Amino acid sequence: MFPQSEKPSERIGFVIFGVTGDLTRRKLIPALYQLSLAEQLPDELVIIGFARRDWSDEFMRAELKKGVEEFSPVKPLDQDKLDELLGCMYYVRSSFDDPEGYHRLAEKMDQLEITNRIYYLSTPPSAYRTIINGIGEACLAECATGWVRVVIEKPFGHDLSSARELDNHVHQVFDESQVYRIDHYLGKETVQNILVFRFANGIFEPLWNRNYIDNVQITVSETVGVGSRAGYYDTAGVIRDMFQNHILQLLALTAMEAPVAFSAAAVRDEKVKVLQAVRPLQGEEALRHTFRAQYVAGTIAGKRVLGYKDEPNVPDNSVTETLLAARLEVDSWRWAGVPFYIRCGKRLPKRVTEIAIQFKQVPLPLFGWQNMAGDAPNVLVLNIQPEEGITLRIGAKKPGPINTIEPVQLDFSYAESFGATPPEAYERLLLDSMNGDATLFTRADEVETAWTITSDIIQAWQDFPVKNLPVYEAGTWGFAAMDEFIRRDGRTWRNLT
Ligand code: BG6
Repeated sequence: MFPQSEKPSERIGFVIFGVTGDLTRRKLIPALYQLSLAEQLPDELVIIGFARRDWSDEFMRAELKKGVEEFSPVKPLDQDKLDELLGCMYYVRSSFDDPEGYHRLAEKMDQLEITNRIYYLSTPPSAYRTIINGIGEACLAECATGWVRVVIEKPFGHDLSSARELDNHVHQVFDESQVYRIDHYLGKETVQNILVFRFANGIFEPLWNRNYIDNVQITVSETVGVGSRAGYYDTAGVIRDMFQNHILQLLALTAMEAPVAFSAAAVRDEKVKVLQAVRPLQGEEALRHTFRAQYVAGTIAGKRVLGYKDEPNVPDNSVTETLLAARLEVDSWRWAGVPFYIRCGKRLPKRVTEIAIQFKQVPLPLFGWQNMAGDAPNVLVLNIQPEEGITLRIGAKKPGPINTIEPVQLDFSYAESFGATPPEAYERLLLDSMNGDATLFTRADEVETAWTITSDIIQAWQDFPVKNLPVYEAGTWGFAAMDEFIRRDGRTWRNLT
């Protein structure tokens, strides 16, 4: 099993750079509140917010309280717990490039007797280098009497070279063992369960290879559009926003070998090996094995929604993809010849994240009955969200005098089996960062390998620019070209409607 996330026993200072931003309000503080409800926060936790705005301790507490009221999944709120959490928050006002600010931060930490500390970079990536410099120059990256860690949000770099540069920069100040790179998908219970499912159950692993698996389909479909994030998104697209990180992590967990132990080093070693085995997609190969499109106006859940180019701050001539399909291969003994199809996009009809393992057809169609000639019946689906669970489709004889085989499902649902919805990803990740467990964070070589795969594709797209990016109507699964992408391999996308 994954290492237990226990309540940390030490006094910890949790410093949030960019405390006035959206991520802090929406995710970080509500997650800390949830942890406090579960009695998992250290008894002696001090939270210091660091940002430019003219806020005070009181004002910050009031703002973050509103965030918990709005975004906490559990209502009604426990006011006492919330007040207790807010009571341990302090604000340091400074721009990120002002050395004085870091000295004030140091003084505040001394005053509050903080030795063990986590710096959480909850800012736009453009501020990472400046903050890391500031921490380094004020000699705050180490502490003689305690530990120091830094948590860095995605995106980690914009391409391979910027990710390397950022890493070099980070490593000038911090040792890799101090660095916790967030990919929030790794904090999702169902994502963690991929490894438990594979390596705590004996019956699937013998089948988990090219001898029995025909193809794997990883789908991450969202109904949301880019909203107010176009400034960032238009320079990223699905490939940087989702593929380089979440999708490749899902692929790595699905395809990796069993680690020698459930330790941060061993798990990450295996993930890196799989990523290294992903066949590079370069030049025309990349064009053939990827497909991009952008949404135009359409209807989702009965509501009209804007097209991508009509969203605020999207340039009229944008060719940024909001939908991506890709066909990857993992060149290893286990996976040679098994395609991994990726489908990921915004403004699709349904919010679904799943990994579908399509098993091969039986060697001999013994029953000349209806339905055996088509798709092989066995599909194992790891449902990551929103209906967390696992289903296995099998063929069964339909009762009655006419011999027919019909697909039926064996179902496991988290909600039914455990009677609760899984905790938010950030709860687990924040707790692990406090406990010093980096298993669910990405390591430098892992991020770099993921960027190598991604940058090759981006390079090919740049070398062969599209004149007319295909479009799809918001609220649809795409169109003929999307189907054609997989049909030319003689396969179809899993029907998710
Ligand atoms: C983020 C992306 O990393 O993940 C967003 O930047 C995306 O564009 C989000 O919407 C999806 O996360 P989740 O947890 O809702 O699947």
